[in-house]
Amino acid sequence: MPRREIVVYDDPTLRKKSRRVKHVSDDVQRLIDDMVETMHAANGIGLAAIQVGVPQRVIIVQLPEPGEDEEEPDPDVDRLFVVVNPQLARRSRETEEGIEGCLSVPGLVGDVERCCAVTVKGLDRHGKPLRVKAQDLLARAFQHEIDHCDGVLFIDHVDDPEKLYPVTKGEEEAAEAAQQVPSRSEATGPLV
Ligand code: CO
Repeated sequence: MPRREIVVYDDPTLRKKSRRVKHVSDDVQRLIDDMVETMHAANGIGLAAIQVGVPQRVIIVQLPEPGEDEEEPDPDVDRLFVVVNPQLARRSRETEEGIEGCLSVPGLVGDVERCCAVTVKGLDRHGKPLRVKAQDLLARAFQHEIDHCDGVLFIDHVDDPEKLYPVTKGEEEAAEAAQQVPSRSEATGPLV
């Protein structure tokens, strides 16, 4: 399972609309395996195929394990979601602002308004229909990845430059930068 190179901001590939997958072939299986390895190596919590240069509608999401101080483990934590041809079947009217980063936009995190809860539908990695109800960070990650399939980046949702924060390197700094923002609701800047 080779790691693939992550396409970064200003490469026009990221602005492409990805194609629907007609058949979850062996090639798609290999793509998914490579995406998982690439995401883990980069400490990300989500990745879309277009971020490794493949314009097909395939996304993966995996939230990190909870920190020691979190009391109630969320059953969705550490579960790997693979969704082929993902769509938002439902979205909550309620939205919230939260901090977000992107493996394809290194050095920046931003406050992005997203729906608090969504239902994602699509196919699983075996081509079977899949429906996932997600809220909070999981919902945010799904919305971010589905955006990638349409060539949209989180920075497109930030209209106020004061809501973008530079980070010099790595996730630790992202977390530190996040902690300086009074309005933020999460402890880290997830890279998706
Ligand atoms: Co991203």
